[in-house]
Formats: sequence, C-alpha cells, structure tokens
Amino acid sequence: MVRAAFGDRLTTASSTLNFVDSLAGFRLIGLDTLRPWRVHGRLGKAQLDWLGKELRRTETPAILFMHHPPLRVGTWWLDKDLLRDHEELRRTVEGSPVRAFFCGHVHQESGGRFGGADVWTTPSTAYQFPPHALLPGSIRTPPAFRVIDLDGERIDTRVVRLT
Ligand SMILES: [Fe+2]
Repeated sequence: MVRAAFGDRLTTASSTLNFVDSLAGFRLIGLDTLRPWRVHGRLGKAQLDWLGKELRRTETPAILFMHHPPLRVGTWWLDKDLLRDHEELRRTVEGSPVRAFFCGHVHQESGGRFGGADVWTTPSTAYQFPPHALLPGSIRTPPAFRVIDLDGERIDTRVVRLT
C-alpha cells in the first residue's frame, strides 16, 4: 500500500521502505521498523548501514521518522516491543547531524533524548494507550496529531487533540 501510494518518493537503495527528502534546511529521512507479523520493531543491519551512509553524506541537520520509538515510554507492555536494535541505532546517530526522531506505535505523547537527539512520540489518530497503564487497553481520549514547525535551526513541535 505504501509503495502504491508513495512509490515515487521512496529510495530504491534498500529493500525496506525508506525516503529522503529536504525541507526548510533539514533532511527528512524515513526508516522502516516494521517486520511482517511482528509487533516489535527492528531496523536490521542493511538499513542501519544505509542510514550511516546517508548521515555521513552531509552536515545538514536531519530529522528521522520511524514507527517504533528507540526509547522506553514507561508502559511495560509497549516497551517490550520497542526497537530491538536500538543500541545499533544509537551508535549510528551519535555524533551525526540527526536532531530529532518522530515516532508512533505507542499511541501516546512522550518526549526524551536518544543518541544526542530529541525523541517525540505522538498520540494516535485512532485510539489511545494511557501512559503508564498497568494493563493493555485503550482509552477514549480523542484522536490527535503532531505539528512540526521548522524555523532555521529550531524544531518546534506540539500535539493537537481533536476534541
Ligand atoms: Fe505499531
């Protein structure tokens, strides 16, 4: 489905679904953390090697987009499915021009730091998972999306809740 809709924007450098674009002085890089029939995320060596080459290509600040976050959010039944090769990703991005990660999967808002960059997760446009919930399940909090403002070297972001 992604290939059908956005095939002209995907790089053909790897078998995973990746994109590289530029906007307002930033490079936007899309990574593919999904593995068929698995809930957890994984980038894999080939994609990490590809990312490393992309990040060494230029000093232009980069923003990474990926489904699974590289950080725990404090909800055990979500954190067990975080990106499995997060330590390899950390080594790839440390000292690179990556300034931020924007992620999904956890259906809740959170922020943190990873490999020298900010990490933001975003509530779902469908159902939400409550932060720090002891048991799996969703709540009836309204859907939301995230706005990202790029202003020179600055990245400003906020979540907008549909009420
Ligand atoms: Fe997911």
